[in-house]
Amino acid sequence: MSPSIDNAKCVLVTGATSGIGRALALAIASLPSHPKVIGVGRRKDRLVELTEAGIDAENFDVNADKAATKTFVEEMIKKYPEIDTLVLAAGIQREVHFKKDVDLEAVATEMHVNYFSILAIISFFIPHLLAKSVSGHPCLIAPVTSGLAYVPAPWIANYSASKAALHSLCSSLRVQLEDTSIGVIEISPPLVESELHDAEGTTGALSRFWMPLEEYTKETIEGLQRGVNVVCSGMSKNIYEKFEQPKEQIITEMAKRAATHSQFQEMIVL
Ligand SMILES: NC(=O)c1ccc[n+]([C@@H]2O[C@H](COP(=O)([O-])OP(=O)(O)OC[C@H]3O[C@@H](n4cnc5c(N)ncnc54)[C@H](OP(=O)(O)O)[C@@H]3O)[C@@H](O)[C@H]2O)c1
Repeated sequence: MSPSIDNAKCVLVTGATSGIGRALALAIASLPSHPKVIGVGRRKDRLVELTEAGIDAENFDVNADKAATKTFVEEMIKKYPEIDTLVLAAGIQREVHFKKDVDLEAVATEMHVNYFSILAIISFFIPHLLAKSVSGHPCLIAPVTSGLAYVPAPWIANYSASKAALHSLCSSLRVQLEDTSIGVIEISPPLVESELHDAEGTTGALSRFWMPLEEYTKETIEGLQRGVNVVCSGMSKNIYEKFEQPKEQIITEMAKRAATHSQFQEMIVL
């Protein structure tokens, strides 16, 4: 069965206090299947708004260490044992200029929020999802990458690298979970109306090109319902289809024939 958001009973959405995450959380809660939605973020006023919209809200800073992330996931599983779907949208974006001073702390935080925290949350949820998978319950993991995962924007070098890492992780995770009922759908937005660029003061300039959030959300929900491996739109779709889709097919084909890492390596060499 291909994964679909229509099968979800309980969806945890990170980054649900603004932009893409919030729009997806609200749209998923309005699906005819009426899944329960839990929105995660830090801003308290926004979390209150979510509860007013009928979404359970949880305060968590994903820039947390391993132990705190594990505790958070355990608490979520205890409080919401029905969770079968993760939409991982929390993210930040900073510029990096190598001819000036590079703020390595900011770089590490960006990589942690955009990549490591997602890997950690997924890892801590996997035993719970595998237990559901044993009884055939469909589960879904949907991390949010970017079209910049495939072609980097040099001014946001570390952001692009963090998204490339997350895209790569999605491809590997999908193969590793192939014999389970846990699907992996990568959500790969183009430039979309949100608050992402406020921190660098580029919102005004970028808003001339971005895809309106409403249009983007509609397309993304349709993609999540269809259950394709990568849900992308606009520029992200063009780049994905041109450069990445052929690679995805190779990964899937080789993984089908290789049972171990060494067999996979042997095929790449040949
Ligand atoms: N908009 C675009 O053009 C675009 C394009 C490609 C990919 N994306 C990706 O889409 C995702 C959503 O971004 P957006 O564009 O919707 O931006 P946004 O409006 O700024 O939303 C970012 C969300 O991430 C949460 N977040 C950030 N740092 C966090 C932390 N340390 N702990 C917990 N939550 C944190 C924010 O919540 P709090 O501040 O309340 O914690 C907020 O809900 C991101 O992964 C982004 O990289 C966006």
